[in-house]
Amino acid sequence: MFSATVSAPTNIACVKYWGKKSVALNTPINSSVSVTLDQNDLKAVTTVCVSKSFKKDRLWLNGTEEDVTKSKRFMACISGVKRLATTKVSTEGEVLVDKSEWKHFGVHVSSMNTFPTAAGLASSAAGYAALVAGLAEVFGAKETYPGELSTIARQGSGSACRSLYGGFVAWRMGKDHDTGEDSLAQQVCDENHWPELRALILVVSDEKKDTSSTEGMSTSVNTSKLLGYRASTVVDERMRSIEKAYTERDFETFGKITMQDSNQFHATCLDTYPPIFYMNDVSKSVIKIVHAYNRWKGKVAAAYTFDAGPNAVIYHLEDVADELLALMLQYFPDDKFLGSLFGSSFVNNPQAW
Ligand code: PMV
Repeated sequence: MFSATVSAPTNIACVKYWGKKSVALNTPINSSVSVTLDQNDLKAVTTVCVSKSFKKDRLWLNGTEEDVTKSKRFMACISGVKRLATTKVSTEGEVLVDKSEWKHFGVHVSSMNTFPTAAGLASSAAGYAALVAGLAEVFGAKETYPGELSTIARQGSGSACRSLYGGFVAWRMGKDHDTGEDSLAQQVCDENHWPELRALILVVSDEKKDTSSTEGMSTSVNTSKLLGYRASTVVDERMRSIEKAYTERDFETFGKITMQDSNQFHATCLDTYPPIFYMNDVSKSVIKIVHAYNRWKGKVAAAYTFDAGPNAVIYHLEDVADELLALMLQYFPDDKFLGSLFGSSFVNNPQAW
C-alpha cells in the first residue's frame, strides 16, 4: 500500500465561471480568474491510499462514506492521473511498482474540509484540487505539458483547476473543444506578489445550497440571454483589465471589477428562468455597507464577491483590515448572521507534490 496526505486551499473568483461549453469535458463558456486563499484557513486535507488489495475506489468526505461508484467526476480524476503515472522506484533504485501495474490498484480517499461544505465557499474546488494533488503524489504523475494536471482537476469541478496554484490564477477556457486539453489553469502572479491583499469571509449561512452550481449553470445556459452576452462581450475585457490591475497591485481597479463581476454573475442568476437566488438579505446588506464604506473612504478600499451561496468574501488591503472587521462586527454582532470570520492572507501552493 502507498499513501500521501496533501492539502489544497480554496479559491474565490474575481471574474466568475458560470456556464459549461461541454458538459462531458467540463469546459466553460468563458475564462475566469481567482485568488487562491491561504492554506491556514480554508482548505481540504486529503489522504489518498492505493493498494492492489482494494477491490473498488472509495471516498470518505468529512468522515462519512460517499457512494462514488457512479461519480464520473471522481473517476475521471483517478483515471486521468493514472494515465500520467510513472514507475515507483525505492531510494536504492529497486522497482517497487512498474507504471503498467498501477491500473490494478484500487484507490481509497479520505478528505476533510476546514469550512462548510457546499455553502458557496468553493469547497469542491479545494476538494478536487487536493484529490488530484494527492493522486499525483501517490502515482508519481508527470505532466506532459504545463497545466495538464489542472485539466484533470477541472473534470472534477471546474473551479478546482485554479486551486492547484497559489496567487492569482486564470482558467483559460481553451479553443480545443474536442479534447479540452487547453482548458487549463495558469498562474498570473504567484503567492508572494501582493502580500498586503486580504480576504475577510463572512459565513452568512453554512447550510448546503439548494441549487448546485452544475444545475444552476445548465438552467442559466438554456434560459439567460444575459449570460450569453456576458460570455461573448464582457468577460475577455475584464480578464485583461483585472490581470493588469493585480500585476500592478492596483486595488481600486481590481476591487471595482471584482464587485462588478459578482453583481453580473448574480444578475445572470436572476435572469435565469426560473430564477436562482444565491444571495440573501444579509448578503445584500453587506453590499450596501461595503459601498457606504468606500464612499466614506473616498476610494475602493473593500470589494465584495459572492459565489453560488450567500457568504461574502471581502477583499481589502492589510491597512484597513482592523477597521473593516470592526465595521462588520458592528453591523453583524450576532453569530446567527456571522458564523465565522476568517482573516485570510495569501497564498500557498498545494503542499507535497
Ligand atoms: O466549479 P464549480 O462547478 O463549483 O463552479 C463554481 C462557480 C462559481 O464559484 C460561482 C464561480 C467560480 O468561478 O468559482
